[in-house]
This record gives sequence, C-alpha cells and structure tokens, in this order.
Amino acid sequence: MRYLVTGGAGFIGSNTVEELVRRGHGVVVLDDLSGGKEDNLAEVRNKITFIKGSVTDLEIVRRAIQEADYVLHLAARTSVPRSVKDPVETNRINIDGTLNVLVAARDAKVKRVVYAASSSAYGETPTLPKVETMPPEPISPYGVSKYAGELYVQVFGRCYGLENVSLRYFNVFGPRQDPGSPYSGVLSRFITCCLDDAEPVIYGDGEQSRDFTYVENVVQANLLACEAPNATGKVLNVGTGGRFTLNQTLKLLEGIAGKAIVAKYDPPRDGDIRDSQADITQSKEILGYNPTVGFEEGLRRTYEWYRSVRTQKQEASEDEAKKTG
Ligand code: UD1
Repeated sequence: MRYLVTGGAGFIGSNTVEELVRRGHGVVVLDDLSGGKEDNLAEVRNKITFIKGSVTDLEIVRRAIQEADYVLHLAARTSVPRSVKDPVETNRINIDGTLNVLVAARDAKVKRVVYAASSSAYGETPTLPKVETMPPEPISPYGVSKYAGELYVQVFGRCYGLENVSLRYFNVFGPRQDPGSPYSGVLSRFITCCLDDAEPVIYGDGEQSRDFTYVENVVQANLLACEAPNATGKVLNVGTGGRFTLNQTLKLLEGIAGKAIVAKYDPPRDGDIRDSQADITQSKEILGYNPTVGFEEGLRRTYEWYRSVRTQKQEASEDEAKKTG
C-alpha cells in the first residue's frame, strides 16, 4: 500500500513512517520542516519519497497525494500557548491546511484519511475520563483548530464519501520529540533539564494531570485506523486510560535518572487544562487498539533515548576537537 504522511518528518510522523517502511509499504512524506527535521528520517531516507512543502499549499498537497491509498494527516502547528500567542497562524496551518488535504484526498480518490485530532478538544469539562460522546468545549485556539479539523474531516465523509477516522491523541511523548522550544511537550523539557542538571519549570502547582501516551502506542493506532473495517466517520481517543500529575512525573524521573530534581514553579499558562485522561473503550473495540507501552516504561525508554543522543553528540564533538586541535 502507498501512504502519504503529512508532517512525516516530525516527532509522531517520523515514528509512524519508520513503522510503515518496516512493514514494506511505500511512503511519501510531505513536510515543510517548520517543526520536523530531515534527520528524523535518516534511517529510512532512501526508502521513501520526501517532498518539502506545506499543507497550506494546495498544489503541493495534490502532487504529494497522487499515488496514495491512505493519508495520515499529522502536519500541524502544535502547542496550546503558541496558539494563544498567534491564533491566526494556528488557524491557517491546522484548519486551512486540513481543508487542503481533504480536498486533495477527495479528488485523488484515496481509500481513507486518518486525521491527528487532539484531546484538547474536550477542554475543561470536569468529567474524567473523557469519552468521545462528551460535547467538545475547547478552551484554546489550538483546541478549536483541532476540533474544527475533525468537523471538516467528518463532513468530507458525509458530502463526498471520503472515508475518515479522527484520532484524539492524548499528550504523546517519546523519542524525537523536540525539546528545543518553550512550546515543546513537557516531558521532553523535563528530561533534557534533568540531563543538563538544569531546573525544570512547572507552570502552576504541578498537580495538573495528563494521560501521557508513549509514541509507539500512537503509531499502532495510526496504522490500525487506516484499515479497521467499521471505523470510518469515527472520532476515537488514543491514550492509555491513566493519568499522572507533573509532580508525580518528576518523582518518577528522579528514580530513573538516580538523582534529585528541583523544579521551579511559575504561574499557570493561558489555555491550560487541569486534568486529562482518555477512555479508550471505543478505540479498543473499533480499532483493536491496545496500548502496549505503559507510562513508566515509556518514560524510561524516552530518557534513555535522550541520554544516548547526548552521548553521541558529545563523542562527535570530542572527535572534532581532536581533529582540529
Ligand atoms: C496539549 C494537548 C495535547 C496536544 C498538545 C500539542 C491537552 C490536554 N493536551 O497538550 O493533546 O498534543 O497540546 O501541543 O490539551 N508544562 C510545564 N513546564 C513546561 C512545559 C509544560 O509545567 O516546561 C505544563 C503545561 O503548562 C501543562 C502540562 O505541562 O500543564 C503539559 O503541557 P504540554 O506538554 O505543552 O501539553 P498540553 O498543553 O497539555
């Protein structure tokens, strides 16, 4: 089968692309490298087609989609606080970009589009865990943009018969998540601070909780969603069903790293949700999804990954210093 993965050079995208290649599928990646990196595809670079371009450019999307059976639409402008700061750009990439992908997918007659939706659609509703039947009440421009994308995806099913599945990811983490900006996912920031012996910042009291989901589980859900027989038109949670507070997360990290971590507490961020936890009954039933890597194991693997990348970089710069010096 042939897959187009938008955002395929990003964190979730590149992990998904690697698995598709491992299974022998043909893959086209469309990515403008605004968040992703070509390095993320180093292992599979000669086995895929890479097109540098944005989902906001309909003609490039049409070119990338030409041969595709399935489209995994992961390209997006992530981050809640970034969307609060610049809602227009979040809207342009997440909503206009999704519409372009849908128009191109409809015209190219692809078998199905799988859309990366977000737990942020639920907003601050008090009930936990979040079930797909709850009315969405996003509280940030990011949440609105991801929810609007879902609506478009479903309407393309109704109006044009385009098969579709929206997967509401819950706080995904793991290897290749970029820790390099204030908008990066919290675990990538905590782990790199820990390795640097720097002080992690907690926004709020650290008692906010998340259903942190290891990326391998999300890759599994992505692939299942392309072919699951009774999934079209569905919106499904992809999490683990549990939740951990930020304070608990730092305690676990202390155990993994074998050292004390002292955090700095700053005021909460705008648009931030207090608690988030997925009910995954539906995705288990409809997709056969079964998260195989739990939070603690995922955290351990992720820590090891950042540590090994750091060691490799240090060795490379020492070699360089020897050569020049
Ligand atoms: C939200 C969505 C998630 C989506 C992501 C995209 C929810 C519940 N989740 O994640 O599905 O994929 O946006 O960007 O809406 N924090 C710190 N210190 C830091 C960084 C963050 O304390 O250095 C805090 C944040 O204030 C927040 C929590 O950690 O309370 C998680 O933040 P982050 O990793 O950015 O994800 P969400 O905003 O929860």
